[in-house]
Formats: sequence, C-alpha cells, structure tokens
Amino acid sequence: MPAQQDGFATRAVHSGSRPGRAQGATTTPIYASAGFAYETAAELEDVFAGHKPGHIYSRISNPTVAAYEERLAAVEKGRGAIATASGMAALATVIMTLTRAGDRIVSNASLFGGTRRLFTALMSRYELEVVYIDLDREGSLEAALNDRTRFVYLESIGNPKLDVPDIPTVAETVQAAGIPLVVDSTLTTPFMLDAHKVGADLILHSTTKFISGHGNSIGGALIDIGRFNWGEFPDPDLAEASSLVGKELSFLYTARQLVVQSLGNLASAFDAYLQSMGIETLGLRMERHCSNALSLARALENHPAVAAVNYPGLASSPWHETAERLYGPHYGALLSLRLGTRKRAFELINGLRLPKQLANLGDCKTLVIHPGSTIYHDHSAEVLEASGVYDDLVRVSVGIETVDDLIADFTQALDRL
Ligand SMILES: Cc1ncc(COP(=O)(O)O)c(C=O)c1O
Repeated sequence: MPAQQDGFATRAVHSGSRPGRAQGATTTPIYASAGFAYETAAELEDVFAGHKPGHIYSRISNPTVAAYEERLAAVEKGRGAIATASGMAALATVIMTLTRAGDRIVSNASLFGGTRRLFTALMSRYELEVVYIDLDREGSLEAALNDRTRFVYLESIGNPKLDVPDIPTVAETVQAAGIPLVVDSTLTTPFMLDAHKVGADLILHSTTKFISGHGNSIGGALIDIGRFNWGEFPDPDLAEASSLVGKELSFLYTARQLVVQSLGNLASAFDAYLQSMGIETLGLRMERHCSNALSLARALENHPAVAAVNYPGLASSPWHETAERLYGPHYGALLSLRLGTRKRAFELINGLRLPKQLANLGDCKTLVIHPGSTIYHDHSAEVLEASGVYDDLVRVSVGIETVDDLIADFTQALDRL
C-alpha cells in the first residue's frame, strides 16, 4: 500500500488495489453481485447496525466500488470518496446532503451546461436558491453570501469558458464564512489540482472524462478532502451522523447512508473497474494531453483564419497568470477557438479528419463540438454569455495523438475556410 507522502503516480498505481488473491489476479475483480451473503442472522444484523464492516447491497456499497473509492481518496489525499453513476449524480449527492428548502448555494456563473440545468431548472422546484456570481468581479462572492448559504461552488477551469478562478483567494473568504468550498476538478484532475494546497473542502469529478480516459464509461466522484470541520455545519442529519461516526466522517456517512442509498446513484462495479484502471495511467495521459493542447493552441493562434484561441496556457488568456501560479506547467486539455461565424465553425468541424464530433471531453482521442448548437442549444442568452458560448465557437478536447498530426489536420481544415 502506498503512503500519503508517495508521489502522485505511485499512489495512482498502488492504492485501492484488492487483487483476487485466490486466483492470483493483479487487478481488483468485478464483484457482480447485487447483495452479499452472511452465514448467520446475527452477522447480517451486525452489518446493518454498523457494528461489523461488510457490504450489504450494491446500491449502497460494493467491494469493487470500495477499492476504487479508496484509490480516488488516495490520489486526492482525501479522507474518503464516493463513486457515483455520473458527474451529475455526484453533484446531486452534494446538494442533497448539504441543503434543505430555503437554503442558498453560491456558484461561479461559468459552468458546464448540465450543472446549470440541475441548479436552476431542477433545484428551484425544491425551493433551493442558487445565486450566480462572477468570480472575476471583486466583491461578487462576499455580496452573495448570507446565513442560509450552505456551500460555494466553482469549476477549477470553466467548461467551456476556460476561465481559471483563483481558488486560494476564494477559499479564504469561504472558510471565513464557515461553509465548505466545493470544487468541480473535472478539467484539472488530481494530477493538476492539489485540493489541500488550493483550499478546497469537497472535490467533485465527472470521472467520465480524464479519469476514465477512454470515453467508455460514465461516472462521477465525490471526495471529502478532510479540511472542513463538519461539527460546525448547521444540519441535524450531519449532527446525528457526527454522534454516530464522529464529525470527521459525518459528511461521507450522511451522503452514503441517507442520499446515495435513497437515490440509488452509486457507480456500478463494472464502471468502477474501468475508471479505477483509468487512474493508473492518468498522470501519463494528462502530461500528454496538456503538452499537446499547448502546442495546438500555439499553432492555432498563429493561423490567419482563427479569430481567437482561448486556452489558459497562452499568454493572451486573461487567466494565464492564475493558471500558471496554480497549475503551471500544465494548463489542461480543453481549448476553444472562434472562427468569426457559425458557418465557418461548422466548416472547420466538417473539414477535420481525426477528431470525433461528439458531446464529451477528456477522451484520449481529440473531440470537437460547437457548444452553441448542441450542449447549450436550449440555454438563455444570459447563460451563454456567462459560459463564454459564442455562435462562432468550437470547443476542442485535445487528445493524446501524435501532436504533429493534430496540428496538420487543423491547419488543412483552416486553410480551406
Ligand atoms: C465540468 C463538468 N462537470 C460535470 C459534468 C457532468 O458529468 P457527467 O456527464 O459524468 O454526468 C461534466 C460533463 O460534461 C463536465 O464537463
């Protein structure tokens, strides 16, 4: 088993591994079992009561999922993790664990479209108030906080705006308010973002993306970093959990026993297996994703057919200084470019040979999409503005192909515009 002080790659490869000892397997087996049998009635009673460790039913926990959760916690250096059926399921779990009707969530306005939909269209039905702020505007966060605010939410790199919030500065204000800071680190992954260093309390991932890495699985993750004092969180369920399992584990306990058990949004054993394998090569892939993205961004910036390139690794990005301070020399794998008109954006997509056009990111293959006509097709002008979605914008999730091939492909398609 790796130690906390081991490097990222060591923790990624060696943590959370429960090989099938009987057969000499080198990876954790996929325990495809709905329930788990015990010899005596008293034993099962003890497991239900929490007096004896053990799995009961795979809607609540499962050995393959538990091993993957251990690995997620190890790479984030967190207290524990819950692997969910999707990134949205992880977010729903945070919301339902920490809020009640009448409460407020304060969120940066630059968000993935699905997160916006969950916050606004769905949660307003349960009288939950989500206040959107612009973290680039000084004082915006302070003005939005009130005594019903239960957490502050942001994406470490905004999808698709590619803004880079200064998380340590945000964390200071959030900490002073006595509430947790929840960071969606999907675009940075634990390879780039050290939650302890930036001051995040809960980390959320769409593991569908870089963690899975091959576009073959949908999943999410929720990691309690272990910084926040849940003993001070004003919720009776968390207080009750504190008295049962201690304040350190009260968030994870409530999230699993109350929310995940009730919603049934835990990851399946099969998806946990795939994503756990993904973590083993995450560092290598992220290095290549990031260097390819930087090279491609530089090449695109110099092409006369391109009106603008958005990438935090370019000096022209308004967030370059923050990105360099927090993540340099890695700036992520997502970039976007503006072509002047929607017609030219479509022509670029149609003219590319290698990238796949689809609604995902973080695959080892390069992916492109026109967000305005797809992911954001039913969002208001205000949301489009806050998310940096323009009609001439193409989003590129840069893969791990040979970078010269990618540059040549984009160049030939741009030359023909
Ligand atoms: C930044 C970000 N967060 C969350 C999600 C939601 O994740 P999932 O699609 O796994 O539910 C996405 C999906 O694109 C995303 O890009």
